[in-house]
Amino acid sequence: MSEIFHPPVLLKESVKFLNAEKGGVFVDCTLGGGGHTETILEANPENKVIAIDRDEEAIERAIKKLERFGDRFSVYHANFSQIDAVLDEESVDFVDGILFDLGVSHFQLRGDRGFSFWKDDFLDMRMDRTQKLTAEKVVNTLSERELADIIFKYGEERFARKIAREIVKRRKIKPIRTTAELAKIVEEVIPKRLWAGRKKHPATKTFQAIRIYVNKEFESIEEGIPKAVERLKEGGRIVVITFHSLEDRIVKNILKSREDLKIVTKKPILPSDEEIKTNSAARSAKLRAGEKINI
Ligand SMILES: C[S@@+](CC[C@H](N)C(=O)[O-])C[C@H]1O[C@@H](n2cnc3c(N)ncnc32)[C@H](O)[C@@H]1O
Repeated sequence: MSEIFHPPVLLKESVKFLNAEKGGVFVDCTLGGGGHTETILEANPENKVIAIDRDEEAIERAIKKLERFGDRFSVYHANFSQIDAVLDEESVDFVDGILFDLGVSHFQLRGDRGFSFWKDDFLDMRMDRTQKLTAEKVVNTLSERELADIIFKYGEERFARKIAREIVKRRKIKPIRTTAELAKIVEEVIPKRLWAGRKKHPATKTFQAIRIYVNKEFESIEEGIPKAVERLKEGGRIVVITFHSLEDRIVKNILKSREDLKIVTKKPILPSDEEIKTNSAARSAKLRAGEKINI
C-alpha cells in the first residue's frame, strides 16, 4: 500500500508548542507515518526522538523514512501506556517534549486492515496485530446488551440498541465477517432519510465505537498521558491532538487535573481553513498543550 500517505495534522503548531526548535529529547507516542517525528528532528540538529507505535507496519515504514537521522531516532513497538518502560529502556529519566497524535493513520484506515466501511475487508480493526481481540470477534461474540452499550458509549450512536439487536439477529443466521456486511446492517437500521445524500457514512459512529473498544483506546490514553507528564522535565511540554469530542474530553480533563501542568493553550488550537482544504481528515482535530511546572 505504498501509494498511501498520512499527511501530519497541525504539524507546524505541534512543533511550535513542543518548543522543538530549542533542542532536546522528545517522545513521539504515535509515530504513524513519521511526519511529526521528521519535522521535530529537522527543527534542530541536536534533537533526538524516541518514538512509539503499537503498529509494527508503521514502525517498518518509518524506519526507512527516517534512516537518515541515524541514532537521533529510536523506535519501540509498544503501547504508549508503557512510555515509562520505554524511557527506562533508553536510560532516559526526563524529556523536553512529548507528542500524542491520537487515533488511526491513513495507512490503517485506507489499507486492508478492516477499519473502514469504504473498503470490503475482514473485520479486523487491530492497530497491534499481535493482539488477539479483533472486531470480528467483538461483533460475533459479545451480548446484545454489551454491543449496544459499546456503540452508544464510544460512538454516541442513538440507534445503538437497534443496531445491536440487528447484529445479533443476523449473526445467528451467518457470522458477520467483513466490513461491508457490518456497514450494510447499520445502513438498513438507520432510516435512509437521515443519511441519504450526506457525506458522512451512516456506519461512521458504529465503526468508531467498535474500533475504540477493540484497541482499548481510552484506557491507553488514561494510563499513558499521566505517565508521560511524570517524565517531563520542568518547562517540558506535552502536546496532544485529538480527533473527536469523546477523546478530547478525556484529554482535557486529564491535563486540567494535573497540578504540575500549566495549560498553554487556553482554547484548543484548530487547523486552518487552508489545512482542512488540503486534508479533510484534519477538520475535527484539536490540539491541547501543557507545560510542566514545579510544585
Ligand atoms: C494519527 S496516527 C499518527 C500520525 C503521525 N503523527 C504522522 O505524522 O504520521 C496515530 C498512530 O498512533 C498509533 N497509536 C494509536 N494508539 C496508540 C497507543 N495506545 N500506543 C501506541 N501507538 C498508538 C497508531 O497505530 C497510529 O499509527
